[in-house]
Amino acid sequence: MKIIRSIKDWKNIRVNNSMRNKTIGFVPTMGALHKGHIELVNKSLKQNDITVVSIFVNPTQFNNKEDLQSYPVTIKSDIEILTEMNVNYLFLPKYKDLYPDDFKYKIIETDFSKMLCGRFRPGHFDGVLTVVMKLFNIIKPDRAYFGEKDYQQLELIRGMVRSFFMDIKIVSVPTVRDKDGLALSSRNLRLSAIQRQLAPRFPEILKSDLPIKHIKSKLAREGFKVEYVEQIGNRRFAAVYLGKVRLIDNVKI
Ligand code: PAF
Repeated sequence: MKIIRSIKDWKNIRVNNSMRNKTIGFVPTMGALHKGHIELVNKSLKQNDITVVSIFVNPTQFNNKEDLQSYPVTIKSDIEILTEMNVNYLFLPKYKDLYPDDFKYKIIETDFSKMLCGRFRPGHFDGVLTVVMKLFNIIKPDRAYFGEKDYQQLELIRGMVRSFFMDIKIVSVPTVRDKDGLALSSRNLRLSAIQRQLAPRFPEILKSDLPIKHIKSKLAREGFKVEYVEQIGNRRFAAVYLGKVRLIDNVKI
């Protein structure tokens, strides 16, 4: 696996003859890789000639400084995992390279991004869409891979690609869960042992037959601080806190 640290280096590789007529699959991540990311990478490896993974903890999508500062960074083991998987390229950009304008220009969706997580994390999806657009413009992939755990993010990225006529196929991968049902997330690393034991009750209660009001009160009774539980169409979305750790999930009803 080749590690690329600058946009210029990637551009040189991208125009190289050996890349011609090859399909490129792209998996953007913020690192702290887990089995959910591995599924995305595996799918890209199967569907493309070349797979590029990026790791960049994108500060513009954190509306809370403490959340950004405590976001897990496990770069050494991430590199080991990706090398073992035979990923072709790992892109590791720096803030000043991705944001030469210091985030003066942004991509803003004005409707769905204001609901669910967007209601509680103002500006979050502006940061996500902007960095994904930048990464797409740099990497120029044929396909890009996103998990259904961040369902709202996935839908907003699909919408952006449609709205801006971007020639990229967005491929989604179902949420990967631990044996006890907890959706895998880099943030799970920050749960204490007791919180980790309680956490699987979140998806369990979320997918129960109870009405939304009762789901909320049951979660609260069991020790979760509920941010929202909402149903849109046949999908139920929720965000809760266990201590300072924010967990999100969604289930098809
Ligand atoms: O889902 C994530 O890890 C991030 O939101 C993404 C898509 C890599 C953008 O920073």
